[in-house]
Amino acid sequence: MKPTADPKTGASATNRSQPKSVYIKTFGCQMNDYDSAKMLEQLRGENYLPVESPRDADLILVNTCAIREKSEHKVYSLLGSLGEIKRSRPDVVIGVGGCVSQQRGDEILKRVRSVDMVFGTDNLFELPEMLREVAGGNRVVRTAWHDRKRKVDNFIPDFRLDAASLPKAAQSVKACLAITKGCNNYCTFCVVPYTRGREVSREPDNILAEAQALVDNGAREITLLGQNVNSYKTGSARFVDLLEQLNGIGGLARIRYTSPHPKDFGEELAAAHARLPKLCEYIHLPVQSGSNRILKAMRRNHTIESYLDKVTMIREKVPAMALSTDIIVGFPGETDQDFEDTLSLMRQVRFDHLFAFKFSPRSDTPAADYRHQVPEGVRAERLARLFELHEVIRKERSEALIGTRQEVLVEGPHPRETGAVTGRTRGNKPVTIPRRSAEPGELVPVTIVALRHQSLVGRETPSGSQ
Ligand code: SAH
Ligand code: SF4
Ligand code: F3S
Repeated sequence: MKPTADPKTGASATNRSQPKSVYIKTFGCQMNDYDSAKMLEQLRGENYLPVESPRDADLILVNTCAIREKSEHKVYSLLGSLGEIKRSRPDVVIGVGGCVSQQRGDEILKRVRSVDMVFGTDNLFELPEMLREVAGGNRVVRTAWHDRKRKVDNFIPDFRLDAASLPKAAQSVKACLAITKGCNNYCTFCVVPYTRGREVSREPDNILAEAQALVDNGAREITLLGQNVNSYKTGSARFVDLLEQLNGIGGLARIRYTSPHPKDFGEELAAAHARLPKLCEYIHLPVQSGSNRILKAMRRNHTIESYLDKVTMIREKVPAMALSTDIIVGFPGETDQDFEDTLSLMRQVRFDHLFAFKFSPRSDTPAADYRHQVPEGVRAERLARLFELHEVIRKERSEALIGTRQEVLVEGPHPRETGAVTGRTRGNKPVTIPRRSAEPGELVPVTIVALRHQSLVGRETPSGSQ
């Protein structure tokens, strides 16, 4: 289905005629989702409208992730199937952006004939220019880094989101906002410093203007994004200052951030959670392993002891804090004992959510060449054991909330249960509220009455009542 013309899309006078259609497929993390949203915004200005299927699109963009081998495979397999569309409609333009593009550059053009342009993570704001080059008959590669000598940057150009120009579906209750990009940590397993470059922080004014635009557009919750988000720093603001300023935005109900690095997590940030009403009781604090030997080989710059001290400090300041983490199993050299230490850390901290992965060797990273790679079978078995243990903990942590009062930010109607709505607590736990109609964005005070599979069940309890 072709989109119909929309007079409010902001299309310039020169290309106002027949709108074109774009399909964007996004792999990877929230930063990639955010970048894809920025691509779409720019393309709206070029008179493109989004469509749901690549078969209907004049322009197909694939925003790629390189974090694990599997992520990269998925990209090439999608590009393979998009090739069929290109063969049947040679005019369709196929562009590949994101982390795989940054790392592989023109290798993608050589490997996949149907691709017209490849662009890196610093080049997404050059999309209109690149499209003009493709229209001129060229295959385009742009992966040059922008100058990062300056420590502070407005890597997101001035943001002028016009709420009236967006279709309803684009007006989301939950929004993401990038405040830093890149990473200087060079953990030995991780490709991100090579795909996102050196770390740079964005000016607070630029961030606040975008936050205000998101709120004007219906956002009630904002998640600040950065590869190492709590190392945010400009000449005028540190991370906590920025949180404080965002806390002052009227109409915004909740602030979250991801991912903080344990080595940069200090007392002041923990105290901000107790002090700033909009900052939620949820922290995703990636630990990666429960063994100091492995943490050292990963070059994580924190130890188990320092991590546990921080968890204790956080829980002293905010006892209701929900915690989640990332763990890699089967890092080169990980012994049975190292893995047992990871299980024991899990029992000690009792994380509410877990994101765990089998180690995947990535090109450019030192760990890919380490000796004593752990066999795939062992990695798989360890991952299964870790998830099994965590499932018990997750259930217990959720059941412990039965009988407590929670605030739910409604996201929309329940996908399967008629008459119910769903949302999340401030601790990021999913909640279903049966027999309740509510608009997305409404804050409903509930008492948790049950745990059903992955979701809590809440009954509305107006504040003041028991
Ligand atoms: N900036 C975040 C991590 C971003 S990548 C941080 O510092 O924690 C998200 C997660 O992917 C990582 O936390 C790690 O657990 C996992 N990951 C990264 N590289 C990996 C690799 N080579 N193999 C398996 N998992 C990996
Ligand atoms: Fe990767 Fe480490 Fe940077 Fe996180 S902190 S993005 S794991 S290098
Ligand atoms: Fe993937 Fe790049 Fe994000 S490698 S996890 S899309 S920063």
